[in-house]
Amino acid sequence: MAIAPRRYSDSKIADASFLSQRHPCLHDAVYNASPQVLMEVDAGMQSYFAELLDAYRGEVAGEAFFTALAQQMAEPEHARKWRTLARLEQFVANRLRAVLEAEGVRIPAIEPDWQRGLRSAKEYAALSWPEALDRLLPELDRYVREFEASESRMPKNLLPLAQFVTAHERALVEFVTLELAQQGADSLAAALRLLEENPLAPVERPLPKKSTM
Ligand SMILES: [Fe+2]
Repeated sequence: MAIAPRRYSDSKIADASFLSQRHPCLHDAVYNASPQVLMEVDAGMQSYFAELLDAYRGEVAGEAFFTALAQQMAEPEHARKWRTLARLEQFVANRLRAVLEAEGVRIPAIEPDWQRGLRSAKEYAALSWPEALDRLLPELDRYVREFEASESRMPKNLLPLAQFVTAHERALVEFVTLELAQQGADSLAAALRLLEENPLAPVERPLPKKSTM
């Protein structure tokens, strides 16, 4: 799950230099800036960092989204499944964050993206389990395609990370597909494999309070 608010990577903004430590004072400002302002600070930044930061922010929102869905569930088993996916989103976000920080990319505060995820979850509050899955599937398919495309733009050293991001999105698709096929006993297998078998340990990061709405 990525829940992208705006795709820097879809425009010239993807090349923005504001992510670089060379311009730390610009970072917070441009997050609320117009596209025109963003393009004015466009020079010199590697677009793949913008793409990975987009992905990171989407994972933060995704964790909030699944956490909120879990809290909305009357059925404990459904809540458990959403919580597992929230854990996967956090795991992916932590991996992205660790690499971005190591590369000198400034990481924005998570609260706006967390709140964005909570807002998305509200749209699912009235849906039944299959209705929620039905609604989710095309979104996840779209993210898989976007992440696959993103891989082709990654430098060699960042490709494994990008592939990992894509793999987790495929695990979400697999979850929804198996649930819809009444194979819920196996639906989390791919997600759990990523959580359990990935050789890189997650990096702790501060979380906001876990209130939902
Ligand atoms: Fe995700």
